[in-house]
Amino acid sequence: MKILVTGGTGYIGSHTVVELQQQGHQVVIVDNLSNSRGEVIDAIAKITGIKPEFYQFDLTDAEKSKQFFKSQPDIDAIIHFAAYKAVGESMAEPLMYYRNNLDSLINILQGMKDNGISRIVFSSSCTVYGQPDELPVKETSPVKEAWSPYGNTKQMSEQILKFACDAYALQVIALRYFNPVGAHESAQIGELPMGVPNNLVPYITQTAIGIRPRLMVFGNDYSTPDGTPVRDYLHVVDLAKAHVTAVERLQTEAQKMPYEVFNLGTGTGYSVLEVIRAFERVSGLKLNFKITARRPGDIEKVWADTSFANSELGWKAVYGLDDMMRSAWKWEQALMQQKLPGRY
Ligand code: UFG
Repeated sequence: MKILVTGGTGYIGSHTVVELQQQGHQVVIVDNLSNSRGEVIDAIAKITGIKPEFYQFDLTDAEKSKQFFKSQPDIDAIIHFAAYKAVGESMAEPLMYYRNNLDSLINILQGMKDNGISRIVFSSSCTVYGQPDELPVKETSPVKEAWSPYGNTKQMSEQILKFACDAYALQVIALRYFNPVGAHESAQIGELPMGVPNNLVPYITQTAIGIRPRLMVFGNDYSTPDGTPVRDYLHVVDLAKAHVTAVERLQTEAQKMPYEVFNLGTGTGYSVLEVIRAFERVSGLKLNFKITARRPGDIEKVWADTSFANSELGWKAVYGLDDMMRSAWKWEQALMQQKLPGRY
């Protein structure tokens, strides 16, 4: 297939482009590089030997988006990653989040409608569940009131896709990711947070390499085995492969329903302290960390029921926590060699 990957130079997008190319698909990337680097295109080519076609523009620009779709009449499917994703930033700048994450989706759906493209895989998040009443969380668990504008854009995007799917006879798969971490084993691509990282694993690796003085562990008074919050961490390469499976499911018309939702996680929850211990185990280092106050808005615990993704999508995560931490550490060390601006 010829597959449009929006946000294809980003963290999950770039890993997905690699897996798509390795399965013989042709990839076209659209990215405005607002939170990624153009060099990622070359890094992808180093891994796969194929330089993906790349267009740099903002998908919230309706006119540019329209022209783009007109110029690409043979797109078979779309995987839509391009979005803002920082929970805290979305609290401070809600309109920026609604405008960016919803306008881009609407322009893509318009392009699909106008050009007869019917297949789309969408990046959603376990954040749509909030703090679930029952764990592990199933796809049928209720979508709770959003805790942040970011989470709300994911909920609204799913609804927009559902109605568009019915109205325009689309084939849609929404993938609800748990916590993607780690990097490609080649250490050519990985997570590249601009400035101070918000997320746990890049904060750990940046602390270990000396960019940050120490990691703050946000609270140890939760009702979890060691008091720190529990998440379902998932290797980004496993996650990338799920997108290949999903888009091929659309191609082969294997869907049971035109609009489907799958949880993507390992099904196992780990606490913050367990993640730190895994990092120390694989790196042989002692991490400097300190327990501090809870981070506002953090939920206590969440992990996925992956049985539907395993049985129906035919996808299962294979990497464990140590693999995730090992690859994240290898990537951090490779990045250090590059001396990129904006990381210190
Ligand atoms: N944490 C720390 N110190 C840090 C960073 C994180 O202790 O410096 C803790 C958090 O309190 C949390 C855990 O590590 O318990 C994981 O935090 P992340 O920020 O890595 O991930 P979140 O689970 O908070 O957020 C992720 C995605 C969001 C998504 C959310 C859905 O980054 O985009 O999952 O639950 F909305």
